Amino acid sequence: MAAVNFVDVRKSFGAVPVIKGVNVEIEDGEFVILVGPSGCGKSTLLRMLAGLENISAGEIRIGNRVVNTVPPKDRDIAMVFQNYALYPHMTVADNMAFSLNLKGTSKEEIGKRVKGAAEILGLSRLLDRYPRQLSGGQRQRVAMGRAIVRDPQVFLFDEPLSNLDAKLRVAMRAEIKELHQRLKTTTVYVTHDQIEAMTMADKIVVMHDGIVEQIGAPLDLYDRPANLFVAGFIGSPAMNMIPGKLSPDDRTKFITSDGTILPVANPSAKAEGRALIYGLRPEYIRLDPAGLPAEVVVIEPTGYETQMITKFGGSDVTCVFRERVQAKPGETINVSIDAEHVHLFDAETGERLSK
Ligand SMILES: Nc1ncnc2c1ncn2[C@@H]1O[C@H](COP(=O)(O)OP(=O)(O)OP(=O)(O)O)[C@@H](O)[C@H]1O
Ligand SMILES: [Mg+2]
Repeated sequence: MAAVNFVDVRKSFGAVPVIKGVNVEIEDGEFVILVGPSGCGKSTLLRMLAGLENISAGEIRIGNRVVNTVPPKDRDIAMVFQNYALYPHMTVADNMAFSLNLKGTSKEEIGKRVKGAAEILGLSRLLDRYPRQLSGGQRQRVAMGRAIVRDPQVFLFDEPLSNLDAKLRVAMRAEIKELHQRLKTTTVYVTHDQIEAMTMADKIVVMHDGIVEQIGAPLDLYDRPANLFVAGFIGSPAMNMIPGKLSPDDRTKFITSDGTILPVANPSAKAEGRALIYGLRPEYIRLDPAGLPAEVVVIEPTGYETQMITKFGGSDVTCVFRERVQAKPGETINVSIDAEHVHLFDAETGERLSK
């Protein structure tokens, strides 16, 4: 196991910069997820850590060794790819043993490690099968087994679950998390799926357009997003964003474009006099007969809760209610807002302006 450090890492393809100065500290044994929209540079960063891509500037360290020029095979890492890359003509056991065979590890040791990994992953009865005789989830486990037998300092995963159906993805999510709790190997995992990031990570790195927007524990990012990008990216359904400004006479009142007044509990002084975005998560809106009128636009019952798109304050606002709601599109309901959980952002810079 080892810590991993990115220090002002940059990467350009030709003249095009795609990683623009990334600093990330990953502690020994931590499970870190790089998340962000397609094309933001997640795979490039991971491939640089693996040594599959050289770096244009900066430093990457594994443990206390700078690995900028160390070839991939000497970095003591194991990578699991999206497409698994299993050898079709080899059995499960041979697929898992492959890298150890290359290294000249003894037959006895290989047998022991393959058996151990197969037990951890529930593959013991499938060792003689070929990849084509396995389900998607089983193939995924073989790809992980191939990484586990190497007992590396760091595991790297690049979207390992994206070929699986929704149900299997949820099951594998839990398996990978459990595996990490068991092996405690430092893990860097790439996904564009914020739910995957929220549910699995010790620490999330939110990337956007080649830079890091914010680093933090999942719930810290959810509760205190540093800017509009993170606020909009983390959370589903997404945070509502209502434009407006603070009342000049009373900082606890937010005035929307149509003059509606919404409550604010924790404005910072910097928010006064600026064009703002009022960030409101759907679950912090409650049904309240004495509250603001809101027009019902769309109702989406999920059984467990009711999602509703409503109109108030000049914007479409998504609400999530715990209870089942008897209302029809076009009708008016009344809602109140949990002001303690409201976020304010600068409309121009996107910067957070509430405490
Ligand atoms: N070999 C290459 N040559 C030129 N440009 C590249 C190369 N590889 C990646 N890029 C560009 O670098 C940027 C980052 O790509 P990267 O694959 O790291 O994105 P990503 O965050 O992993 O996206 P996705 O979620 O779609 O996998 C993209 O704009 C991509 O077009
Ligand atoms: Mg990618």
